[in-house]
Amino acid sequence: MLVLGIESSCDDTAAAVWEDGTVRANVVSSQADLHEEYGGVVPELASRNHQRLIVPVVQRALTKAEVDAEGLDAVAVTYGPGLPGSLLVGLSFAKAFARGLDVPLIGVNHLEGHVCSVDLEGPRPGRPFLCLVVSGGHTELVRVDENAQHEVLGRTRDDAAGEAFDKVAQLFGLGYPGGPDIDRHAETGDPAFHDFPRSRLDGFDFSFSGLKTSVLYYLRDRSAAERKRLLADHLDDLCAAVQAAVVDVLVDAMRRAVEETGGEHVAVVGGVAANSSLRRRMGALGREAGVDVSVPALTYCMDNAAMIAQAGARRLAAGHTSPAALDVHPNLQL
Ligand code: KG4
Ligand code: ZN
Repeated sequence: MLVLGIESSCDDTAAAVWEDGTVRANVVSSQADLHEEYGGVVPELASRNHQRLIVPVVQRALTKAEVDAEGLDAVAVTYGPGLPGSLLVGLSFAKAFARGLDVPLIGVNHLEGHVCSVDLEGPRPGRPFLCLVVSGGHTELVRVDENAQHEVLGRTRDDAAGEAFDKVAQLFGLGYPGGPDIDRHAETGDPAFHDFPRSRLDGFDFSFSGLKTSVLYYLRDRSAAERKRLLADHLDDLCAAVQAAVVDVLVDAMRRAVEETGGEHVAVVGGVAANSSLRRRMGALGREAGVDVSVPALTYCMDNAAMIAQAGARRLAAGHTSPAALDVHPNLQL
């Protein structure tokens, strides 16, 4: 089965060609540089750029995969959650493309796509598995069973983990998105430099807005000159301290979930799964607790369309397709 995947929920325009479990092409055109000067994604700018990029990106994926569009068996596309205008560009294109080729259209939940990214490469995690979905917009801990049904054990009550990295990075004067910058600086920093708060809520819910506020106050309590000196002399230490606060919370939740559910397989997916400390600490948790840990390759942690094609193919195999009237669902949940 040959599936074209399309993803445009935020600021990445992506297309992938997937054939029977193998990714034949995975093209992502990031708009990050464009949004950086505004310190975050500007929705209007994002949708306008998706419009400009969607055709060449799909074309590039088909060319790279050496596939004629006529050979496709289905078109899978993200229909939520995400920015309405951005989602609309991908979905409208996918609808027209599928209609023109007379192949099924399969709407995919972006978060389900992230969960499916564990099956793209390397050994698939056994089922059921506990999956931490950590991205710029989401932080959820879910249990995924043999039939790919998701049971949400907990989710963030305010900011997502990636959002916390991005907002703190902005306070530190770093670029957007801030997660990769914080990760890089943290490599040579001392995580014990300052003890930022780790919020621990009942059950498996998360909260990261306190961390951002705490960093804000920590900086605001100093004079401009002091702040400048602190950021010049200790940026790496501060990044390491913030990163440790986020990673501690995520690893602690996963450890408790393994203990409480007796889970044997765990996975971490989404943009924040690219974080080097989180990857290391999850590996260590796996060894300590005797569980298998799956973390996708870096390319499949970030938003991409291969994971959408993978999720779409699974839906199609289970007999699901979407009506031509499918609309975007900006607040879709797992
Ligand atoms: O999954 P993704 O590409 O898009 C969303 O669905 O949100 O995730 C993007 C998020 C951003 O918040 C970014 O700062 C974060 O993932 N991120 C990282 C790293 N790489 C990306 N956070 C921490 N460390 C990283 N290395
Ligand atoms: Zn994502």
